[in-house]
Amino acid sequence: MNQPLNIGLFGFGVVAIGLYDVLQQSPATHAVISKICIKNRNKQRKLSPEIFTFDPDDILNDPQINLVVELIDDADAAYQIVKSALKMGKSVVSGNKKMLAAHLPEFISIQKEYGVGLLYDASACGSIPVIRNLEEYYDNDLLQSVTGILNGSSNYILSKMFNQRLDYADALCQAQDLGFAERDPALDVDGLDALNKLVIITVHAFGIYVSPGEMFNFGISNIHDLDMQYAREKGRKIKLVAQVKKNLDDGLSLYVMPRFVSPDKYIYNVEDEFNGVVIKGAFYDKQFMFGKGAGAYPTGSAVLSDITARGYHYRYEYKKMKLQKRLKFSNRGVVNIYLRYTDENELALFRFEEIRERYNSAHFKYVTGLITLENLQQIKNELKGRNIFLAEI
Ligand code: HSE
Repeated sequence: MNQPLNIGLFGFGVVAIGLYDVLQQSPATHAVISKICIKNRNKQRKLSPEIFTFDPDDILNDPQINLVVELIDDADAAYQIVKSALKMGKSVVSGNKKMLAAHLPEFISIQKEYGVGLLYDASACGSIPVIRNLEEYYDNDLLQSVTGILNGSSNYILSKMFNQRLDYADALCQAQDLGFAERDPALDVDGLDALNKLVIITVHAFGIYVSPGEMFNFGISNIHDLDMQYAREKGRKIKLVAQVKKNLDDGLSLYVMPRFVSPDKYIYNVEDEFNGVVIKGAFYDKQFMFGKGAGAYPTGSAVLSDITARGYHYRYEYKKMKLQKRLKFSNRGVVNIYLRYTDENELALFRFEEIRERYNSAHFKYVTGLITLENLQQIKNELKGRNIFLAEI
């Protein structure tokens, strides 16, 4: 039976305002936002002041509030709010991927211990219901990989650069103006946002939690016209791709990096702020989910869907975490990459298993070849601040 929901909302930024508007159009949800906790006292708001509070306890200690919706962008504060709310027996809906990726194991235990529900489908891929699908539909061990474009802002930037030849900086500004980017856009363009989403997806796809720091991520912040030109010459587009894949030895590899994508791939036509997720399985080959991955209303609707699900007491069961045969995360896999670099010291950081192609002119130097994810992960921190770009071929 549908339970009436009395919501205490944390945050009133892009997504929270999106949720507020979407909720006004959905009377059947039986959910009312009764208090909104915000930080900034000086901002002009579109609602009357009585609904706002600056004290989290006004929500957490209110016995009438049975659902906390957390939509702030401070991951540390969000962690405290979500933990306190769950421990007080309140259901929680959150969209904070950074916070969830860092603390999921603890939240899974708390949910079990306190008999409460935490839903977060909005945290990965905006409007695409990827988490609930992986949790409910693919609850068998036929799943082989989940590959996708999980960050709308970087995809928007890449689309504008490729299709309209816009500058990187201009495209990033547009993504910020449209409300797609994080407050710190480095999270988007350095692949960290996609990485956090991949961590969450992997828990529901394969029942394994991998801490974000353990896997390789590389983003698009160093992309240059030369890389775009290389892609065009090969008839490919560059996309920022996140992938979790079961290997033959039952190891699981996870990483985020740009990829040259050919026109025969589903994600080739995923443009702008859209996300696309390819789910590959042993007997059904590939399935593709596609939809808006960022923005006020797409993400607000995903939050609404979680709210509705709490209305009928839905909880994630983390079924795959209970499987007897557990997969093990490893960085043993090998990837074929393109590396554009500027000086030989940079190239020397990379221990290629095999070099396949070399190009060296005054303005453009690159190699392509096979390298282990382990080597990439080892040198990840040394790559920061260098004028290099790499992408999977
Ligand atoms: N900054 C995120 C993105 C928002 O661009 O995908 C949605 O998670």
